[in-house]
Amino acid sequence: MALTLITGGTVVGPTGRSRADVLLDGEQVAALLRPGDTSLGVDLASVAQTVIDATGKYVIPGAVDPHTHMELPFGGTAASDTFETGTRAAAWGGTTTIVDFAVQRTGERVQDSLAAWFAKAEGNCAVDYGFHQILGGVDDDSLKAMDELVAEGITSFKLFMAYPGVFYSDDGQILRAMQKAATNGSLVMMHAENGIAIDVLVRQALDRGDTAPYFHGTTRPWETEEEATHRAIMLARLAGAPLYVVHMSAKQAVATLARARDDGWNVFGETCPQYLYLSLEEQLGAPGFEGAKWVCSTPLRSRAEEHQEELWRYLRTGDLSVVSTDHCPFCFKEQKELGLGDFSKIPNGIGGVEHRLDLVYQGVVDGRISLERWVELCCTTPARMFGLGDRKGVLAPGADADVVVYDPAGHTSIGYPTDADTARGNRKTHHMNMDHSAWEGFEIDGHVDVVISRGQVLISGGEYHGHPGHGRYLRRSHSAYLR
Ligand code: URP
Ligand code: ZN
Ligand code: ZN
Ligand code: ZN
Repeated sequence: MALTLITGGTVVGPTGRSRADVLLDGEQVAALLRPGDTSLGVDLASVAQTVIDATGKYVIPGAVDPHTHMELPFGGTAASDTFETGTRAAAWGGTTTIVDFAVQRTGERVQDSLAAWFAKAEGNCAVDYGFHQILGGVDDDSLKAMDELVAEGITSFKLFMAYPGVFYSDDGQILRAMQKAATNGSLVMMHAENGIAIDVLVRQALDRGDTAPYFHGTTRPWETEEEATHRAIMLARLAGAPLYVVHMSAKQAVATLARARDDGWNVFGETCPQYLYLSLEEQLGAPGFEGAKWVCSTPLRSRAEEHQEELWRYLRTGDLSVVSTDHCPFCFKEQKELGLGDFSKIPNGIGGVEHRLDLVYQGVVDGRISLERWVELCCTTPARMFGLGDRKGVLAPGADADVVVYDPAGHTSIGYPTDADTARGNRKTHHMNMDHSAWEGFEIDGHVDVVISRGQVLISGGEYHGHPGHGRYLRRSHSAYLR
């Protein structure tokens, strides 16, 4: 078995940090050792096949992104990252596990949709992967399928209160799925936006001639997120089921979630980097049709600073448990452009699977969260929330040897090379299959230096050493947060 030794770094986990050397034995973590420990009676640096000097750097578990949409069919097109390109980009950014969403389309059997997702991913992934299942509707067949899928390691199901006629479930369907989740120990993930009200606002905006990307944001106001979040919590309470609300952006919606948590309810929320940094006016209001690059749902918020302050606060208090990316990339040319003249036809989504660790780390630099909370939000809690906590999101003996060496003295220029970047000789761009970046011009005071997945170095020295097919399917257990 190949031994890898990571020396001289500061190991950071959710509960603390310490100077330690990390020994990897094949695909697993073997030991965390005091620096220079000789108790094993051998000089590990001379017997290890690979020695990585992490002096001055942080050594953290490989990051876990529990919300990606590779190849998601949407609005007559499909998300532009395949499992091959998307998981390679994830690796570049220090994410060694993704949980993607298999999608049941109307009229399709749940099991068939899942089989299609297995086929897309199998043999193509650079990092390990699991699946959630999107239920395109809830009926007797899909309720039965929920039990079958749980037995196969798919222990979470996403429902939509938005997008009537596409992925939508009504309250009765949601209640039935939640009742099922309460009995089989799965976790319902909710896209909480009032899609019926939004459709009225969208129609009225288009009738007024308000067709630009900006109106995607104004027709999904915070009230539609807060109302749906509240309704989802009440339905979960009726069903006695836990609930996980995805991609939260409105402070009012998170306040409602936080109140339910104060009352003792098992409800959880995630947010995404776009809601922590970007604003409706600045991005969707960009000249011409450019704003389409930032069309996503929930949308970027108006007066975003007020929401962002609160979202960071809820990340500190624990009322928001996870930062995911909701990686759902579409190219500007020919994909986002489907909505020229009608914002409601712009495919919804932002690509960012490569940037989450950096963007959330900037919150550490800015004094918004601690180093330990960074690891907890990006690595440990996503793994535990979705039944992967025994293997992923921790650096402990027996866990998978997924490791990131992060350089706090390094620097990351995100996005397509700007003119200034090019002038500085910096030609680095992102590795996602997109013709633009929603994060253009972001500068991060930190850098993903080395990335290891199950003992194999994927990134080092600014180069990619991985290959499609290294990533394996992860059968997930129940969430660690249920009981
Ligand atoms: O705009 C988004 N979020 N696109 C991806 C699909 C979803 O609702 O998560
Ligand atoms: Zn969603
Ligand atoms: Zn999503
Ligand atoms: Zn680098």
